[in-house]
Amino acid sequence: MTTPPDNGPVPARRGEGLRDVVVLVSGGGTNLQALLDAAADPAYGVRVAAVGADREDIEGLARARRAGIPTFVCAVADHATREDWDAALTEQVAAYDPCLVVLAGFMRLTGAAFLARFGGRTVNTHPALSPSFPGMQGPRDALAYGVKVTGATLFVVDAGVDTGPIVAQAAVPVLDDDDERTLHERIKTVERELLVDTVGRMCREGFTVTGRKVTIP
Ligand code: GRF
Repeated sequence: MTTPPDNGPVPARRGEGLRDVVVLVSGGGTNLQALLDAAADPAYGVRVAAVGADREDIEGLARARRAGIPTFVCAVADHATREDWDAALTEQVAAYDPCLVVLAGFMRLTGAAFLARFGGRTVNTHPALSPSFPGMQGPRDALAYGVKVTGATLFVVDAGVDTGPIVAQAAVPVLDDDDERTLHERIKTVERELLVDTVGRMCREGFTVTGRKVTIP
């Protein structure tokens, strides 16, 4: 179990200003869409400053472009080493100086440079109740194990795979006739609500990460 570098607490926003976040995606982007929809209301307090991806031609990027949000692509294959890719991704995100980075279906592990710059202020969403079923197949692994309750977890990214300090979780019952698709879709409905609610509170109220404890005042 590791903890992210302590980059200090993120303070509550002052006045009615918007907090900038950068969202990273790799796929369909329904979690991103939920954030974009919420951010359309200034009372939400969050501006999606940019959307980044590790690949072209995904619906997540199309959603951002339709919303008029700047996008960038940072593909591993375009860099000589994984470290080079991580450094380039860090620079591209840093250009928007976000108070929070949201990994929303981003299927890559960020590396040391990224964590040095954005550790403690990067969150990821995972379709299982951590610490159970980390990795790419959370819903499939939950079904295979036979659990009766699974869910979604929002956590602060550290160097591990879905191991970081937990910000929020929500439970989803597993139904007898669930398959991987139906279970994941029901989790995603809950996951989007959890993401929108929690990211909004983190940006408006600020938050602290102390060891494994995440506090939103
Ligand atoms: C989400 O369930 C996320 O937790 C997982 O992949 C899914 C992405 O969905 N890593 P979307 O691209 O936001 O629709």
